[in-house]
Amino acid sequence: MAHTRHLPDGFLWGASTSAHQTEGGNTNSDWWQFEHMQTPLIKEPSGDACDSYHRWREDMDLLSELGFTDYRFSIEWARIEPEPDEFSQAAIAHYRRMVEGAHERGLRPLVTLHHFTTPRWFMERGGWAATGSDDLFARYLTAAAPVYATGVEHACTINEPNMVAMMAAVHRAHLTGQQLPTAGMPLLDGATSDALIRAHARGRSSQVLRPTRAYGWSVANQAYQPLPGAEAAAAPIQRQWEDVLLEAARGDDWLGVQSYTRTRIGPDGPLPVPEEAERTLSGWEFYPQALGQAVRDSAALTPGVPLIVTENGIATADDTRRIQYTSEALESLTSAMDDGIDVRGYFHWSALDNYEWGRYTPTFGIIAVDRETFARTPKPSAAWLGAMGRERVVTAGAA
Ligand code: FCB
Repeated sequence: MAHTRHLPDGFLWGASTSAHQTEGGNTNSDWWQFEHMQTPLIKEPSGDACDSYHRWREDMDLLSELGFTDYRFSIEWARIEPEPDEFSQAAIAHYRRMVEGAHERGLRPLVTLHHFTTPRWFMERGGWAATGSDDLFARYLTAAAPVYATGVEHACTINEPNMVAMMAAVHRAHLTGQQLPTAGMPLLDGATSDALIRAHARGRSSQVLRPTRAYGWSVANQAYQPLPGAEAAAAPIQRQWEDVLLEAARGDDWLGVQSYTRTRIGPDGPLPVPEEAERTLSGWEFYPQALGQAVRDSAALTPGVPLIVTENGIATADDTRRIQYTSEALESLTSAMDDGIDVRGYFHWSALDNYEWGRYTPTFGIIAVDRETFARTPKPSAAWLGAMGRERVVTAGAA
């Protein structure tokens, strides 16, 4: 049964991307370097990605014509600070043009300042876990201030600190030849997680981001579901993976919730996706109701902090499954809102079929991108979601 609900005034309705996944040619980043190492984690390098460094106007034109009112994109530290303390005014001007270009098209920009990638030199000096990484982040935020000096109401310091800390653990395992667990998710690198919390707090106290901009960060939500009797096994995992990072958002202006699927936990830890369950192209269980749980769990740990769904979506080659998934996810979201959870926006991941951290096959986009010509073709889901933004009404639920 489908339900309709009017979007509250000012509700953000957008799509999300990140710099490395769409721009192409991000050669000075740690990820570019990682993509060219021999590792089974990389099936193909990012290369030209969607060429959005040049084609961002086309991306924004499409989103605005489709009916979206908001666009979340990230700026690339590796371009802005190619060498330590050496800043590219041209890169800063580029991102400033994007902020202005969004407004010219009626899109409000939500700007992420760090979305997984760092400059090579930052990784070479030890990454986030090395002493002084938060100072370096604060210096970058200050230098990039002209990008968001005006016209950026929402700034996101760091995308998914928990995934960044997990990737640090994976990276270390790769370098040391250590075996990673095959089921569930590897544990996070604690030093990285602590450093990210410090870096985020630097943004909170900095005049660069406050008081004129609403400040927050986005946490990857796993929608943990312990099986009966497995609560004790789940507690430390949930604490390390999620709760400490959510608690770090207390006192922020907003918190970003990113949800794709659930994680079931048995007495020995995270369980694989059940054989009979539908899997998406990313290998995750098709479980749209995770979004409702994600906002409820996030709200419980951050009282008084408004939530924005900064990512939610599905990797599929079948756009009708995307519409179905999103419809059910929105149903669980609006039902949480009806129960009083304070949600102020929804951004779909992703605007484009982009580079998914090692491969192009998990297509999350509402807009297809031709890998040779970079031609963009909106899928039916793009028109369907965009219309909700134009009409300010969500129609959600099983078809
Ligand atoms: C999230 C990332 C985003 C994208 C989606 C599928 O973990 O923030 O860049 O890869 O997953």
